[in-house]
Amino acid sequence: MMACERLTLKAYAKVNLTLEVIGKRDDGYHNVATILQTVDLADTLVIGPADELVVECDRPDLSGDGNLAWRAAAALAERAGVVPRAHIRIEKGIPVAAGLGGGSADAAAALVGLNRLWCLGLSGEELARVAAGLGSDVPFLLNGGTALGTSRGDEITPLTLLPATDVLLVVPPESIEAKTPAMYRGLRPEHFSDGGKSRAIAGTLGSGTLTSADCCNAFERAAREIFPGLADVWDTVTQTAEHPPRLSGAGPTVYCMPSSESERIRVSESLQGTGAAAYLVRTLSPMSWHAAQTENH
Ligand code: C5P
Repeated sequence: MMACERLTLKAYAKVNLTLEVIGKRDDGYHNVATILQTVDLADTLVIGPADELVVECDRPDLSGDGNLAWRAAAALAERAGVVPRAHIRIEKGIPVAAGLGGGSADAAAALVGLNRLWCLGLSGEELARVAAGLGSDVPFLLNGGTALGTSRGDEITPLTLLPATDVLLVVPPESIEAKTPAMYRGLRPEHFSDGGKSRAIAGTLGSGTLTSADCCNAFERAAREIFPGLADVWDTVTQTAEHPPRLSGAGPTVYCMPSSESERIRVSESLQGTGAAAYLVRTLSPMSWHAAQTENH
């Protein structure tokens, strides 16, 4: 197979419909049960040949070897025994450090794209093993859709697809450094659960009746305390949306699923002056890398 000259890939964001923390593990991580769902808010990666590894982002502070896409390229090259030579350009569409999996999605798209650019022929399972070493959300974002994540969140079981649903993402103006470990540290024993709620919701996804009130997230109390300005934004959405909003991942994004145009407008308008940004997105079914690859030069 000929190597491609240049690949363009979409890296889609995720929301956590549920995020239950079951307990702490000996390796310092926590076992979780989380239902993950991709939405049609995306970064774009353009990957092409180069003499060395270059990761360039339209947010200059995210360029270079600190980017998870860089680490993905290095890990994939090491796994395959090749020299990591590629130019990766990332255009951010997903808010950064927001609980929407943007950095993880970029890493997943880099794995998929470089597997192709370097003609490695690694299987989905092999890519998933490399992905799990990069972060707990990366294996899910290789394929997306609707899935249950267990263990660290990296063991993925595809679920019945959620029928296409509108989701209003509300992103507060500020995030914090190293928020995910901070959220786990902020948990108390009463925030642990056994994963039963995720299993129950997994069985009802196809019915099309899911609302944000059915969803759950163990970090909600900790997030309201830790993220500056989140509690006010959250309360505003609670007052204007039909169902209570939910936190995505380790936050600070909260989301609701507006059932009408008037609800969407009501919630969006209520956010004026809070500094929060609202994004109306739609849930996505899984994509193979073939579908994610929008151009091939
Ligand atoms: O896997 P990821 O890089 O996203 O994890 C970031 C941090 O979040 C970990 O270093 C760990 O402190 C915490 N974490 C955890 N249990 C998980 C996932 C993450 O304790 N299942």
